[in-house]
Amino acid sequence: MARRVCSFCAKPEDQVAHLLAGHGGVAICEECARLAVEITGEHAFEQTSGDLLLTGIGVLITNDPRQDGPIRDGAVAIRGGNITWIGTDRDLPSRYRSLVTLDCEGRAVLPGFVDSHTHLVYDGDRATEFGRRMRGEAYESIMAAGGGIQSTVLATREAGPDRLLSVSMERADRMLSLGTTTVEIKSGYGLETLTERHMLEVAGEIGRRLPLDVVTTFLGAHAVPAEYGADRDSYLWLLEEEMLPAVAPIASYCDVFCDEGVFSVDESRRVLAAGRRHGLRPRVHANQLGDTGGLELAVEMGATSADHLEHVTVSQAGMLADARVVAVLLPAASLSMRSAQAPARLLRDAGVTVALATDCNPGTSNVESMQLVVALGALEMGLTVEESIWAATRGGALAVEEPDKGWLRVGAIADLHVLDTDNYIDLAYRPDRSHTWKVIKDGRVVVG
Ligand code: NIG
Ligand code: FE
Repeated sequence: MARRVCSFCAKPEDQVAHLLAGHGGVAICEECARLAVEITGEHAFEQTSGDLLLTGIGVLITNDPRQDGPIRDGAVAIRGGNITWIGTDRDLPSRYRSLVTLDCEGRAVLPGFVDSHTHLVYDGDRATEFGRRMRGEAYESIMAAGGGIQSTVLATREAGPDRLLSVSMERADRMLSLGTTTVEIKSGYGLETLTERHMLEVAGEIGRRLPLDVVTTFLGAHAVPAEYGADRDSYLWLLEEEMLPAVAPIASYCDVFCDEGVFSVDESRRVLAAGRRHGLRPRVHANQLGDTGGLELAVEMGATSADHLEHVTVSQAGMLADARVVAVLLPAASLSMRSAQAPARLLRDAGVTVALATDCNPGTSNVESMQLVVALGALEMGLTVEESIWAATRGGALAVEEPDKGWLRVGAIADLHVLDTDNYIDLAYRPDRSHTWKVIKDGRVVVG
């Protein structure tokens, strides 16, 4: 490939600090760009790579424990999709002024949301079932009678990969437009090899088509499909022998719904151990419907996360903390289930890393907005707004083992969410509307 040179001073790329790409093969080195800005007062080059400068940030939530709280009047410099400088506008070194600049005009900025628990790939609708639940029917009895998850399984199998992709893309796109920049997506509405694989392929395709990072989780143990009736063992055999080899190359985690009326602890252990043999790290849907041993299994297996956790005692919280299992809490699911919220405060006080996520699914949490989840963290779980935002950003990043996300510091991935307000408290104070002004993924403005 030809060596790129600055179109103005003709210095080659390796002799300048940094070369910004422009349109039609035109390029400019940092020094010439700075001079151009000085002379014309304008940025002549549009953003073509992940290079960007944010200035005029009213309040900047970094989640960086080395910072003493949010930065006021902040600036962030980004190169090649990573943060290269962060601090106050006043202290910004002049060399960064040549970067294409986004003046935030006093708005609040936080890391992009990391939604660490979703089931967003599915087809079908469960509004009728929701209506029945609102009339008092229990989720468990609807599930035991063949509704619930099973009805989404039928619709998802029926859909085929193209339709599945288009309906799921719409959901993911809305999530992105609400500030989510990384999303975990589970399978679990196929419950047979082909559709489970399709679901994970669709999840991967979403990540390729949208500026949204996708983390994939195999959840073949979401329910025993209706066609297996009481023959649970044959389904588990299929899961181990056929599904896992087929899906393991395109998934990172293996999850199991270990709960009352779903999978027992022994069955769940078997699933997670098989997943691990195929290189999938464990996570567990635990203690949502009851205290049936899912949490202890997550600890025993060294799971990355235990999710839901509506039924947790103080000593169980201590176990999670000691084992460094992240607690992924799903307040929109408890809202929809009209059940008590997970004890977020108790978990935090016990030293557990708490993440908040949507649980986006058609049955128990038809919610895509991490902004709503932040509001619920504060309004329903007793967290402060700051704690709630942390759990939806840094907590989420830790729940999907993405250490360079969920905080803003030098070296971090430049996924940022610029709010339409100068006060991030509005996320919970005005929970009925989106507060997104712009979303930045890998240093590029992708929304707004
Ligand atoms: O996370 N708990 C298990 N799975 C989903 C519900 C799935 C469904 O009802 O379709 C959840 O809440
Ligand atoms: Fe879930």
